[in-house]
Amino acid sequence: MSAQLNNLGQAPAYVKHAKLKDWVASIAALTKPDRIYWCDGSDEEYSRLMGEMCATGMIKQLNPAKRPNSYLALSDPQDVARVEERTFVCSETQVAAGPMNNWVDPAEMRGTMNRLFDGCMRGRTMYVVPFSMGPLGSHIAQIGIELSDSPYVVVSMKLMTRMGRAVYDVLGSDGYFVPCVHSVGAPLQPGQPGARWPCNNEEKWIVHYPETREIWSFGSGYGGNALLGKKCLALRIASVMARDEGWLAEHMLILGVTNPQGEKTYVTGAFPSACGKTNFAMLVPPAGLEGWKVTTIGEDIAWIKPHKDGRLYAINPEAGYFGVAPGTNYHSNQNCMKAIEADTIFTNVAETPDGDVWWEGMTDKAPPRLTDWQGKEWTPAIGKNEGRLAAHPNSRFTVAATRCPSLDAQWDDPNGVPISAFLFGGRRSDTAPLIVESLDWEDGVYKAATLGSETTAAIAGKQGVVRRDPMAMIAFVGYNMGDYFKHWLKIGKSISQAPKIYQVNWFRKNAEGKFVWPGFGENMRVLKWVVERCQGKAGAKNTALGHTPDYTDLQWQGLDFSAEKYAVVTSLDKAQWQAELAMHDELFKKLEGYVPETLLETRRVQETKLAA
Ligand code: GTP
Ligand code: SPV
Ligand code: MN
Repeated sequence: MSAQLNNLGQAPAYVKHAKLKDWVASIAALTKPDRIYWCDGSDEEYSRLMGEMCATGMIKQLNPAKRPNSYLALSDPQDVARVEERTFVCSETQVAAGPMNNWVDPAEMRGTMNRLFDGCMRGRTMYVVPFSMGPLGSHIAQIGIELSDSPYVVVSMKLMTRMGRAVYDVLGSDGYFVPCVHSVGAPLQPGQPGARWPCNNEEKWIVHYPETREIWSFGSGYGGNALLGKKCLALRIASVMARDEGWLAEHMLILGVTNPQGEKTYVTGAFPSACGKTNFAMLVPPAGLEGWKVTTIGEDIAWIKPHKDGRLYAINPEAGYFGVAPGTNYHSNQNCMKAIEADTIFTNVAETPDGDVWWEGMTDKAPPRLTDWQGKEWTPAIGKNEGRLAAHPNSRFTVAATRCPSLDAQWDDPNGVPISAFLFGGRRSDTAPLIVESLDWEDGVYKAATLGSETTAAIAGKQGVVRRDPMAMIAFVGYNMGDYFKHWLKIGKSISQAPKIYQVNWFRKNAEGKFVWPGFGENMRVLKWVVERCQGKAGAKNTALGHTPDYTDLQWQGLDFSAEKYAVVTSLDKAQWQAELAMHDELFKKLEGYVPETLLETRRVQETKLAA
């Protein structure tokens, strides 16, 4: 296949799927790109696209002596995070989408999409991006084809998924794939110079059709809005598949813990966006806990299936990380810092004068001079005077999983790993204690369903406001949240060895507004307790919320953390919990008529216990 012929838009000979080719032709007829390019996923293609983007200024190569084979992209200042208000689940009925999703009648939405996509790729190349979520060819994997007019999407998908030619071998002539259509929504007239970061700030639409399993995304080139394998396919569409087929698609990290005796336990954690999944998944055990080891299976998404041995097994459908940069440093997350030493795409971080990257929290002291994420001059003084950050709070790195030093040997195993515990945790300055163990599966589902968290920069909109984020999935369940709760309860009944369910909070603050719990590697102390609870070794006391560790149940060697401080991160304040229960009621009110009776009953029991 010559590159030239490829560029004319004809499918390469190895694409044998007639329906796929027809679909590509039909989308091209609608969007009217100048060229169609069929991606093969090769390293050569990756370098070539990087070269092309460097030439147009969309991306910049960093100093290879500092960050080999790494690039920096600066987005449009209005295209910096997922846009939940512009995300739609267009099921055939509004009830199917449920009260937590934006819904538009699919027929009407198709009309809107056809109007927006008509000619939207003029002057651009339409890339055909074949990818697999999950190991290629595995019974658990799902194939998607993303048609996108963004070369940044192509190179990101290469790092984040199993992307390339081998996907077509799996698809054959009639295999199933999820069709994903993406445009930055910025057509070019002949001779019109393109924007550095093309996007459309008037029209942004992230649209899902759950019954026909299609994804259409318009107007944004950023993260989960544009890399359609991630939140759109692996969560919103996959959650619908999971409901129909009896499994779970979750916003969860997956890690392995090996104790000093060499026994391994796998644990997942569902924390909302920018609440610590990536960091927890790559945790380095602190001084005092030598002999313990954490290995990484995944850091954002888990697909979890009941196995014939009665346990739940999880895989990470992704093959790379799109992680939050600010706060990441060699002390807080050495594994992550090592992963991004080379072969990484950085987006919206600051650049140093010698062509390296920087973000808030990377070093104690900011460098004297930087170019900020909008390409403007930045010094610590400017930052202070103007209240301007050098890196955007939702700036990110994109890197292949294989670069991660803590990668688990089984990360690619198509059968997944057996899960012993689920952790659910939000960002809460108060109210929620460090850790609570649920009494049973139903109680755990209640805790997960009523999870609250302060909003972060990962989502466009107001930050620091407590909102309910059931299972950290508020923005990612592709159907009615009430049915999703029922599905969770049903899964618990379908297995004989259900994982234990925990509620955690690393983010309690003191009166001065400072985090009390040291977090990061020190979270190992809590994780150790979880693992030992699963093994029946660790003690706990009963509280109104569930089982919690006493000060002496955690190992403190190597950390100066007094019993008084421990009391601050574990205390239960009755007044705060009354307010909390009222917020649970608000959630259930929104879902009125759909909430399973088991959860309403758990709510009543909770009230009685807290009043006692
Ligand atoms: P998404 O990629 O948006 O889903 O985020 P995530 O859940 O993977 O969160 P991540 O690990 O990237 O952390 C987000 C922010 O929280 C970063 O700024 C981290 O430095 C900070 N963070 C992570 N873990 C901890 C912790 O244990 N304590 C404190 N105080 N901050 C943390
Ligand atoms: C999140 O917001 O949960 C992310 C980043 O992981 S994005 O890929 O943009 O969804
Ligand atoms: Mn996430």
